[in-house]
Amino acid sequence: ADDSKTVDTRLGEICELLRSEVSYYDWVGFYFRNGDKEELKLGPYAGAPTDHTIIPFGKGICGQVAVSNQNFVVPDVAAQDNYIACSITVKAEIVVPLFVNGENVGQIDIDSNTPDPFSEEDERFLEFINEKVAGIL
Ligand code: SME
Repeated sequence: ADDSKTVDTRLGEICELLRSEVSYYDWVGFYFRNGDKEELKLGPYAGAPTDHTIIPFGKGICGQVAVSNQNFVVPDVAAQDNYIACSITVKAEIVVPLFVNGENVGQIDIDSNTPDPFSEEDERFLEFINEKVAGIL
């Protein structure tokens, strides 16, 4: 391993890898709790730039996961009331919280342009990714 790589570089590479290797992962990013504030801040990501770099707790799918500490799988974003649209091409979303020492410090967020693409396999896979990420934070 190259210890000179920063955490953000590594996280960015993970995003790029996931986005390029999984056909239905169209936008992959990490959000983290922004210091002591009740909001999320966008970290490294792969895919189209988003205006939503700050998301208050409770708002959108991401903000809800910051509060619930639970995975949130959205098969059809059009059916969600509390949803923040980043791109009109997005059909589905999955958000999996990232825990460090049992504390919800952020999340991985994936958007898909394919309707209803996410299964429990994606949940287990992204939980595994987040466990590994927790180890390098
Ligand atoms: N759709 C998310 C906002 C983040 S974008 O997907 C990158 C939400 O509803 O929280």
